[in-house]
Amino acid sequence: MAEQAGWQGERLTIGLLGGGTVGAAVARGLASRAEEWGIGIAGIAVRDLAKAQAAGLDRIAPLTTDPAALAASDDVDVVVELMGGLDPAMPIVEAALKAGRPVVTANKLLLATFGARLESLARSTDTALRFESAVAAGVPVIGVLANDLSANEITSIRGIINGTTNYILTKMESEGWSYDHALAEAQKIGYAEANPKSDVEGEDAAAKLVVLARLASGAWPALSHVQFDEAPGITGVTAAAIADAGTRGARLRMIAEWQNGGDDASKDSLSVRVTEVPADSRLGTTVGGGNLIVISGDLIGDLTLAGAGAGPGSTASGVLNDLLAIARGEGSSWGDLPPAIAAPAPAWIKAAKRGAK
Ligand code: NAP
Ligand code: HSE
Repeated sequence: MAEQAGWQGERLTIGLLGGGTVGAAVARGLASRAEEWGIGIAGIAVRDLAKAQAAGLDRIAPLTTDPAALAASDDVDVVVELMGGLDPAMPIVEAALKAGRPVVTANKLLLATFGARLESLARSTDTALRFESAVAAGVPVIGVLANDLSANEITSIRGIINGTTNYILTKMESEGWSYDHALAEAQKIGYAEANPKSDVEGEDAAAKLVVLARLASGAWPALSHVQFDEAPGITGVTAAAIADAGTRGARLRMIAEWQNGGDDASKDSLSVRVTEVPADSRLGTTVGGGNLIVISGDLIGDLTLAGAGAGPGSTASGVLNDLLAIARGEGSSWGDLPPAIAAPAPAWIKAAKRGAK
């Protein structure tokens, strides 16, 4: 159970929900550090036991197809949710927090959909909820926003926060690959979501932007507050459009942007749009699965964070750091930030609703 002042038990034991791209990397990373860290794995939940056995996960910890039972087991001190999606992730995470059992998750869809509810629950039971890898994988943007920039008024956040689409745009340009071939390669590397539609249509980036906005603004926007191009994400991008941008010394990048609208969170703007950027700029030279995020604050000016924003190694880094933070009793990812509210709908949504009546 939660020990906010630092872990008092002899050994911290996790229930690992998910043994896919990220879960397997976390299991392997933990197995090689188990003795040094005193953190063990009680079990790994998957759907397909044969696939997990073929990946050798049964040699690390017992396998199960019942994530809810594993998460509720008395042997489990911390739940690590790496299944993705909302069901069964939401009821399991909710039950763990209600029971005072800390949770680490990399699931941005879960946070963007139910963040306000989960934060309120975690605060009410004084239980840690950590999610560093939910945005930009192991690039520590969550920790920086929640802790290191807390003296600043954050004015905007702008950047590349989806590795799959950046990889596709890069390979279409540099190798002349087709969109379908580049997507298939991104899936092989482990960048893409289980359903890559959420990557290419921008929903994954939108969910990450919601999480960043919460830390910057103190309110959880809804996913529906994020504005997209008419053809969402990179679905409207063609080889001809990439070549055309090249003639202007530019590259196409899928840019997520949050702009602080002032004291009223309904005036904040959130968008995910394909944008031309100078080819030799920092955004233009961010290639492959790389992410780059510029955070602007009233005191610090522009701060840029960049690194591997997807893939097993980088994501496992963030998840394992969260586990170590829980072992040290550091609490939730929002640190000492005040409790967040659910953000009111922006004016353009209210106007559209009025128009529809
Ligand atoms: P993945 O490769 O599809 O793995 C998902 C794992 O969860 C699989 O082992 C799957 O089992 C298991 N699972 C799913 N539903 C389950 C259920 N109902 N019961 C038991 N097991 C279940 O996905 P991933 O890429 O590792 O991503 C996991 C999470 O991390 C997602 O929230 C994703 O958004 C996030 N994330 C991913 C990355 C990345 O680079 N991949 C980076 C940051 C964050 P089966 O394989 O047997 O179906
Ligand atoms: N599918 C995500 C991406 C994984 O491509 O960025 C990292 O969150």
